[in-house]
Amino acid sequence: MPDDPIVPIDDPRLREPSAAILDIDDDIRALADYMFQVMDRENGAGLAAIQIGVPKRMIVVDVPDRSGRRHRMALINPEILTASATTETNLEGCLSMPGYDLPVERPASVTVRFRDLGGATQELTADGMLAVCLQHEIDHVNGKVFSDRVSRLRREKAKAWFAKVRRAA
Ligand code: NI
Repeated sequence: MPDDPIVPIDDPRLREPSAAILDIDDDIRALADYMFQVMDRENGAGLAAIQIGVPKRMIVVDVPDRSGRRHRMALINPEILTASATTETNLEGCLSMPGYDLPVERPASVTVRFRDLGGATQELTADGMLAVCLQHEIDHVNGKVFSDRVSRLRREKAKAWFAKVRRAA
């Protein structure tokens, strides 16, 4: 199990919105544990369930906010409630395309609503890399990937690079 491959960026499963999680039960908590293991194994800052082939609306993150405070948490049915008008461009990577970062412009801060592993509804206002990571992973939940958010030229270059890496593998 813990050595399952990550779904690659060009896989059609990453283009489909994932399904809402209705019951937060032991199976969901076990899935979260497993996602943390995979994220840690890959040295990732975040992971969406669909990246391990499970089309459920859950993400895990382990990343600092702007103040340096680390946030390691699972978010179930996460949604962005509000986003700042101010944007920032940061280099982002994705475990579905390891080794190729892209500069992505996004709102600098967001407020996210989600349910935690105990079933409670929570809201979190995030900035810094935490805001970047939450938006990146929530995109995955909605069937979007980070290369959708860059210029066509950058996207084509990334695609060509990835095709080459995959052929060599
Ligand atoms: Ni990603």
